[in-house]
Amino acid sequence: MEFTVTTANPATRKAGVLVIGVFERRRLSDIGAAVDRATDGYLRGILANGDLDGETNTSLLLYDVPGIRARRVLLVGCGKASAFDRRAYRKINAYVAGLLERSRATDALTCLPAIEVRGVDAGDRARVTVEATETRRYRFDEFRSEPSAPRHPLSRLTLHTTSRENREKAEAGIAHARSLAAGVHLARDLANRPANVCTPTHLAEQARALDKQYDHVHTTVLEESDMEELGMGAMLAVSRGSREPAKLITMSYQGAGPDKAPVVFVGKGVTFDTGGVSIKPAAAMDEMKYDMGGAASVFGLIRACAEMSIKANVVGLVPAAENMPDGAAYRPGDILKTMSGQTVEVINTDAEGRLLLCDALTYAKRFSPDTIIDIATLTGACIVALGHHASALLSTNDQLARQLMQAGERADDRAWQLPLWDEYQEQLKSPFADFSHVGGQPAGTITAACFLSRFTKDFKRWGHLDIAGTAWTRGDNKGATGRPVPLMLQYLLDHHDGR
Ligand code: BES
Ligand code: MN
Ligand code: ZN
Repeated sequence: MEFTVTTANPATRKAGVLVIGVFERRRLSDIGAAVDRATDGYLRGILANGDLDGETNTSLLLYDVPGIRARRVLLVGCGKASAFDRRAYRKINAYVAGLLERSRATDALTCLPAIEVRGVDAGDRARVTVEATETRRYRFDEFRSEPSAPRHPLSRLTLHTTSRENREKAEAGIAHARSLAAGVHLARDLANRPANVCTPTHLAEQARALDKQYDHVHTTVLEESDMEELGMGAMLAVSRGSREPAKLITMSYQGAGPDKAPVVFVGKGVTFDTGGVSIKPAAAMDEMKYDMGGAASVFGLIRACAEMSIKANVVGLVPAAENMPDGAAYRPGDILKTMSGQTVEVINTDAEGRLLLCDALTYAKRFSPDTIIDIATLTGACIVALGHHASALLSTNDQLARQLMQAGERADDRAWQLPLWDEYQEQLKSPFADFSHVGGQPAGTITAACFLSRFTKDFKRWGHLDIAGTAWTRGDNKGATGRPVPLMLQYLLDHHDGR
């Protein structure tokens, strides 16, 4: 897919479709009015007829519009001009991306990036337009005999912008969006792959492929025997019921000098979660192939960093295992010795994610991170609390929490903070071990984070993202979302990129 920027009068440009925004009520955007002059008032006449009021999610496709070179004009409702903010701009671009896909045009010229959006500069507007197009373009056809892609896919999108200065910003925005899309696509591919293909070993191979592809990425993989030596009793217990060997994958992206402390991202990589001996009900269990969504997002992030050549050191750490029941599987009541030396009483073998993460977090001390963030499809309770719109964010560092929430806002990949108060820690008392690994029904997302906090005391800046509700969608558009790659990349750019 090719994205280019133009400042030329849109009326003079050849294009399969020319996209023009219309505000409520029946008001052409400024750039639309300029095009309208070339058509001698044709567009205004159409609006005056009442064919389009300008509400969001409405549009009109016109053929043979006089005075311009584009084959078709797509008028798109942009809602109320006063409410045209970042989110509205993104929604309209996503809507247009869908219409363009169905229009069978192979090239289009969009004037949406020329419209002023409160608090969003020309670079970010171009970025959002490209992101929306790339998101729409994504297909997961690896396992189909025939591709599901449209026969006349859009292959060129030109973005109209208003000045030389904005043109440069828009070009940078396009580059940014493309790198992000490369990361998001990888995350979605990995998470969409079924568990009979996407095993811990497969993830390790994918990590080695990134090492091969990018000069600044280096991958190492630890085997179960290495974990044994490190004393990773929690991680190994989870993996014991599976025929698939666990892997501990490290991908380091070096974009800054060797003395610069890295930002470490730890992604839960449960390639399938049956629940183990505490087995899950059958309904929707197929979705547990997505239980490596945190890991997938770490892969995607590393790829986006490498594509963008960001000037920061980033470590992606992925504990990968499969949670299965068999004769060797760990059981409720088992007491495990974690790598930290602390002992843990297993309450329910379905709470396996925190057991992988706790040993990976202990292992991460060797990187002396500036900041460490773990990402996990950790608790069903997270969906109860926040649904599918926001990831849950928990942190012992309020500044970091704020920075992550702001990054999510800007990237349209939002997170919302839940408390990590000491009172909740009491739910983890165990009569038999240092503590229990499950805190009962109330506040399941918080007590899961409380459990992890017992392994992150040495980190000044630790954050936890529970992505159980955001990593994939259900229903007609079932599939991995690639979240929270946009949030994490934005956070790195805002706070760690030395450019
Ligand atoms: N991977 C699941 C959490 C999950 C469930 C994510 C549904 C997305 C959708 C996790 O391993 C799990 O099973 N958690 C248990 C924990 C409980 C046993 C304390 C849960 O949430 O029920
Ligand atoms: Mn589970
Ligand atoms: Zn799980």
